[in-house]
Amino acid sequence: HALPELLCRMPKAELHIHIEGSLEPELIFSLAERNRLQLPYPTIEALRAAYAFTDLQSFLDIYYAGASVLQTEEDFFDMAWAYLLRAKADNVVHAEIFFDPQTHTARGIPFVTIINGLDRAIQQARKELGISAALILCFLRHLTEDDAFTVLEEALPFRDKFIGIGLDSGEKGNPPEKFSKVFARCRELELRLVAHAGEEGTAEYIWHALDLLQAERIDHGVHCLDDPQLVTRLVQQQIPLTVCPLSNVKLCVFPTLAAHNIARLLACGIRATINSDDPAYFGGYLNQNYLETFVALPELGAAEAYRLARNSFEASFVDVEVKAGWI
Ligand code: ADE
Ligand code: ZN
Repeated sequence: HALPELLCRMPKAELHIHIEGSLEPELIFSLAERNRLQLPYPTIEALRAAYAFTDLQSFLDIYYAGASVLQTEEDFFDMAWAYLLRAKADNVVHAEIFFDPQTHTARGIPFVTIINGLDRAIQQARKELGISAALILCFLRHLTEDDAFTVLEEALPFRDKFIGIGLDSGEKGNPPEKFSKVFARCRELELRLVAHAGEEGTAEYIWHALDLLQAERIDHGVHCLDDPQLVTRLVQQQIPLTVCPLSNVKLCVFPTLAAHNIARLLACGIRATINSDDPAYFGGYLNQNYLETFVALPELGAAEAYRLARNSFEASFVDVEVKAGWI
């Protein structure tokens, strides 16, 4: 059929992928063996069977545990390289990749180990796969703003290896304003700014991510439709939303894909994009997200497919000349 083929074959950008969320159970087991670590699950199947989430926090507990097998630069390289190969297969030509350094530095892994492994995979992907990719460092919002300042200090010697700053982890009870000072500092450093908001949190978190953090893109943002004034703002300023349909269903933000609001977001004129979030945990990489979403929502057709691909490039942080070539 023409539509699935269009969805799979069209070039696209991925703007919301947590690299630790691309760690497949097979790679978790092989890294555990390489690093002589004992996992609390006897088999790959047993680990995969634990991927039944009721909300964001129930996922984060397993996701941070999975990431604990990452120890050496090689481990970070292998994880990122596996993602980039997968992205290539989905005709992703550009990826802006989140990483969560505090998940690793808290276990004693030096920042340099993390960034060098990820960066080497990105350089190799540019040369060997023709994919461009860049890193966005995320602060964990369940930790303090002081902790965020600490990891920022550790990261600054490697300022040329990441393009921006994000905010992720448990949203409820950790509002954007908790990080307003550190985001202001990152803005002075001319880092690009994004934040998760309105995934489990309310529309108010989206307002605050925009006004108090000066976020340029909102990750998820699906709760914006609860607030008509916010919708007007998002449309007028063409603020991108990086929406992750399979993630939203797995974390019970929507009961089913058929109930997802991505078609309504597009119909309102919001610059929405489709992304995979944590593909190893949520049942699919980028094309799977497009395919399942378009099956579940019959109001989505070829026009919306082109719109989503175009939005993904327009919302990216590449130079305008490069963007012009893609669009
Ligand atoms: N970290 C990884 N995936 C996440 C998500 N969907 N929301 C918040 N933090 C995350
Ligand atoms: Zn996310």
